[in-house]
This record gives sequence, C-alpha cells and structure tokens, in this order.
Amino acid sequence: MTRKFPADFLWGVATSAYQIEGGVDLDGRGPSIWDTFCAHPGAVRGGDDGRTAAEHRRRMASDVAMLAELGVGAYRFSVAWPRVRPLGRGAVSTAGLDFYRSLVDALLDAGVDPVVTLYHWDLPQALEDAGGWPARATAERFGEFASLVGAALGDRVRRWSTVNEPWCAAMLGYAGGIHAPGRSDPGAAIAAAHHLLLGHGLAVDALRATVRADAEVAITVNPYPVIAAGEREVDIDAARRVDGVANRLWYDLVLLGRYPDDVLADFATVSDLAHIRDGDLAMISRPIDAIGVNYYRRHHVRHAAGASAGPPASTWPGSPDVETVDPGVATTASRWAIEPDGLVETLVRLTRDYDPPPIYVHENGAAFDDHAGAGGDVDDADRLAFLRDHVRAAHDALAAGVDLRGYFVWSLLDNFEWAEGYAKRFGIVRVDFETQRRTPKASARWYAEVARTGEVD
Ligand code: FCB
Repeated sequence: MTRKFPADFLWGVATSAYQIEGGVDLDGRGPSIWDTFCAHPGAVRGGDDGRTAAEHRRRMASDVAMLAELGVGAYRFSVAWPRVRPLGRGAVSTAGLDFYRSLVDALLDAGVDPVVTLYHWDLPQALEDAGGWPARATAERFGEFASLVGAALGDRVRRWSTVNEPWCAAMLGYAGGIHAPGRSDPGAAIAAAHHLLLGHGLAVDALRATVRADAEVAITVNPYPVIAAGEREVDIDAARRVDGVANRLWYDLVLLGRYPDDVLADFATVSDLAHIRDGDLAMISRPIDAIGVNYYRRHHVRHAAGASAGPPASTWPGSPDVETVDPGVATTASRWAIEPDGLVETLVRLTRDYDPPPIYVHENGAAFDDHAGAGGDVDDADRLAFLRDHVRAAHDALAAGVDLRGYFVWSLLDNFEWAEGYAKRFGIVRVDFETQRRTPKASARWYAEVARTGEVD
C-alpha cells in the first residue's frame, strides 16, 4: 500500500550549529558552554569536542549543493549565538551574521527553504559565567539576539524556531549535569526552564518586530509518550511526574499560559519558585504560528526509591524516585527503544489536549553503527527502516486528523552527538571525520525519493 502525503507537505533535514560547524576560531566567535564542557575530562565520550566537527563553517557551499542534489524542500539549521554575539551581549560579529546570510542566500538559490533555530544549546560562555539560564538576564539577552538575527535574515527567512528542546537544555544541562554546562542543581534547572521559555516569548516578540509579516514562528519541543511500567499507585504517579516535566510543563506554559498545578507542587519541594514573576506567563504564551515536535522514543518509567536521587540529580526535578525501564524491544545504537507508534501517540495527544497551531516533526532519526565500504558507501538498512516506519507513523497521524505540515530527518550529516561525541552517527550522509568526505547513505537515496514523490510504501 502506498501512502500519499499532501502536495505541500514539507520534507526537510535538520542539523545544529555546534554539532556540525567547527570553525570555532572564525568570525571572532566566542566560546560557548559546549566548548567549556567538552574540555572537562570525562564529560564527553572519547574526549571529543566540536572544534572541527563536520567543518560545515568552511564547507557550507558544497553542503548546500549536496542538499540541492538530495532535493529536500527545507533545511533546519541553528545560528550559533556566540558566533553572532561572542559574549552574548555587547559587540556583534558582522562576519558571524554574514556567514548565516550567505547560508540563507545559498539555500534560497538552491530552492531549499531555510528553517532557522535560534537556540540549539550553545549559550555564550560569558552568559553562563553571569549565571546562565537560571538567571533572568539570560532570557533578556536571548530576546536581543533574536532581534539581531531577525533583522539580518528576516527579509528572506520565513520559518523560525526560537528554542530547541528546552527540556534538554534545562534538565540535562542544569539538573542531570550530563550536558553543558554540567550543573546538578534541581532548583537551578527549574529556573532555567522558566527563563528558557521567557526567552522564547521575548524572541517571539523580537521576531515579530523584525521579520517578514508572513513569518511562521515556532518553538521546538521534545515530548514523549510516558508509559507506567507497573501497576502500583507509585508507578502511575512516577508516570504522572515524568509526563508533567517532559510534556505538560512545556505545552501548558507555551500554549495555555499556565503551569500544571501538580508539576509546580513537585517543583516546590526543591525550589522557592521566586523566579516566576507577574507577567511572565503572558510573555511565555505569546501566540505562535507553528510548533515543532522532536520524536525519538517513548519513556517507560516506574517508582524506585532513590533511583535518581543522585549525584547527579534527577532530570525530573522534585522527583528523585523515578526509574526508566527498558521495554525490551529493538533499539538503536543509542539504546533507544524503536517505537514508531509513539510518534502517532505524541502528535494525537498534542492535537487532542491542546488545540495547537500547525505541527511539524522538526527532528526524527536514529544512530546505528554504520559500516562503510571502501568507497565510503553505507548500506544503512536499519536507519532506512527506522525512517520509513516513522514516516508511515507521520502519515497515520495525518489520517487521525493531526494538522501535520512537515517532517525533518535528524540529521543531514553524521555529527557531534553531544555527550556521546562522534560515537553515534545519525546522518543520512556519512562524514569521514579524517577526510571530511561526505557520502550519501542508502537512507539518503531513499529519503530523496520520498521527498520527490511525497509517497511512502
Ligand atoms: C535531539 C537534539 C539533536 C540531536 C538528537 C539526536 O535531542 O535536538 O541535537 O542530538 O537529539
């Protein structure tokens, strides 16, 4: 059976600045929290860092030519804040802005629609030194950054996302300490979450003031279906807690302008909540034109006393007794369970419970241990099957009434996978990190065909 997508469905691929750019010494770029974090012994697998990455800063033109050849409709990338404003405030780097201007021009010339993400986790280190996301001023600086980028690119770029996966930025970065800046302080993480969303609201206003009137402004979240792995009341409560912090927190704040009561009560056990000020909720819930959903897997959780009491602290602040359970199905190389139906559940739930604006899958993809042939060829049947099953799930969501407008593969290129370094390859295009040679994998050829025909078997 062939499943046909609407003619205007947007097929894209995604990347982010720190994961591919390298060129950390160019354009007067300042250090980001990821440069600092990578330098901590043991923080990143293999001691890897983003200094060189996929050298996209130098190879942009040929990367765009490759995108054009793939024939995808859109390319989602992020702007490195410290490349544009090295210290996060004060002086602006014209060279940095020029790089993104030329990227946008190249994409438009190639007929590829640019989708610009403003924050994909590379906070200028100088702002972290001044308190980072737990400090309110960081949200204000982010609003300024949005104005700068909006003014530079907003005449040509129509599609925007303010913040990528605020759960990860706040909870992995400030509670679990697994991502930069590597802090383990649940109270700080709760304040960071609030300020990331305050920054989102300020960025929405900043973009509205600087970019074209037909712009589509979004935020990108990473919701998960949460399944209780047990029938005890405490297991059901563990699922409620994780659903609260993973899903309802972001949806309720951005789409409804309120904190879920139960989440706030859990948070109050580790935070005085003094960072929440009058007017913040109205700013956080500024109307948006679209919402991006990144989907990789479900969460299966149950109660286990002290399971995540730390150190490091729980990534579910205020909920130290939650344990993640392996559902026992096939996994990717990241050991993430492969559960494509979870994508349908995620999109249907968002639609049913929140009356959201149009939805895009801004990321979906998988790491597998690729084996390259002599010429660099990779027959990644496992990744191809993963993508095919998730594209089918996206179609199932459409059939269920979800207003889904597009789907983006994570990722165009093999890249720096955060704390996993270069050990996890997510690209549909192989990058040989010795030579920087790019070779489209079998999954890229398959995806190009899906994008061309708008159909999947
Ligand atoms: C998401 C991130 C993205 C990438 C994928 C695998 O959480 O947004 O940068 O690392 O996971």
